[in-house]
Amino acid sequence: MNKYLVFLLVIMFGNNVYSSIDEGRKLFTEKRCVTCHVVGRGKFVGPDLWNVSKKYNKSDLIQWINNPEQIYEKYGKKPFNNGYPPMPNMNVSTSESIKIISYLDDISKKVKKGSKVSIKGSVKNYSSTEDAEYEVQLDTVMADKVLDTYKVSTSEGYFLIDNLEGNIAYKIKIFHDGIEYSTDKFYFSPLELNKEVELTVYDSTMNSNHIEIESTHLVVNYDSESDVVVIAEIFNVYNNSNMIFFGSNDSRDSNREIIELSLFNNIEELNFPHRNASSFKISDNSIIDTIPLPPGGRRIVFTYVTKLDLLGTTISKKFLNNIPSLTIIVPEDKVDLKIEGLEYSKKSSEIEELKDQNYVTYSMNEIKIGDKLELSFSNFKSFFTPKILISSISLIVIIMLSIFFIKKRLRTE
Ligand code: HEC
Repeated sequence: MNKYLVFLLVIMFGNNVYSSIDEGRKLFTEKRCVTCHVVGRGKFVGPDLWNVSKKYNKSDLIQWINNPEQIYEKYGKKPFNNGYPPMPNMNVSTSESIKIISYLDDISKKVKKGSKVSIKGSVKNYSSTEDAEYEVQLDTVMADKVLDTYKVSTSEGYFLIDNLEGNIAYKIKIFHDGIEYSTDKFYFSPLELNKEVELTVYDSTMNSNHIEIESTHLVVNYDSESDVVVIAEIFNVYNNSNMIFFGSNDSRDSNREIIELSLFNNIEELNFPHRNASSFKISDNSIIDTIPLPPGGRRIVFTYVTKLDLLGTTISKKFLNNIPSLTIIVPEDKVDLKIEGLEYSKKSSEIEELKDQNYVTYSMNEIKIGDKLELSFSNFKSFFTPKILISSISLIVIIMLSIFFIKKRLRTE
């Protein structure tokens, strides 16, 4: 079992074995608070949360976190703090809010207010050009907009950027051979003072022969509240050369096409949990990754839903790549799956984290370009909802009554 998949599943279904403060710390990142708030380092997208427990009573504070709309209604003021936009609802439960508050209380005692942060980095040169020094660009980013750019040079491949405020997102870039190498956007968590980053540069190639898909996983779940099947699709893409692949078509950024991946039809709410959607070209039946692929693997994850109606739902696709192995993981007690188009083998899931749930895996091998796959989901438990029961009973009554009257009429004629 792929360790990244297990990791993803643990995130999706994981059990909790941590203290509330530890859980609060994890939630502060997972629920994306860290993308808008700092603690003790000043204003960010939202206000500094240092000692925020002293500013509000407990029930207001919980509401701020799990239902800001209620705060706006209660105080008749939106936004509440001058100079800030409103805070969005982050889908946090009450018990999670309480854990976040215990974390905020704990670190409010521990942080040194106004402490500056630094970024230490190095550039590893795996290309055939001689070791050069690089100009390193630091972008400060707020809500996906670059606010400021700052440059330093490497010295023997190393660089240091210090005395930063730490109350914003950062991104580090260098250029090598016309290709931009960039870190993801990153944040400093409240107690973090120092971050180490490493950028690696390679020779570049336009030859796609070394790009392949190793495997694909479909993790299926059923959301009973909105009666939709939720699918996370994971492609493990691999570049087995020692060069960075930047597309075989054109080297201009927006035209790069690294790999095209097939999409199912009849899906909605396509999302990319780990990446900015703008780094993909999206069409009806495929997505194209546009970010150059360095040697080694890359995981592309996207999620989508398909709505169940009375008869279930069917999604299908035609593969655009050869794929050695495809695995579908389904909670069989919640949703039924019928597979057509490909041979499969079925067994109950071996994933440790899902042992107590009725997950089954379907495995398919050696998928070829042009192969078709059709997945039909249905849910017979939701079939017998009271509404449907009542309407089917009334239907039966109507049919019986009609038969009765028709017979009566026939007799009288
Ligand atoms: C997209 C940005 C964003 C995210 C994500 C976000 N917030 Fe906020 N938050 C804000 C903004 C903006 C305000 C100020 C809104 C206002 O005054 O109406 C705010 C206000 C608050 C306040 C009240 C602060 C005060 O001093 O009045 C608390 C507490 C808070 N957020 C906690 C959280 C927590 C905990 C999370 C994560 C679950 C979170 N926020 C996620 C933007 C965000």
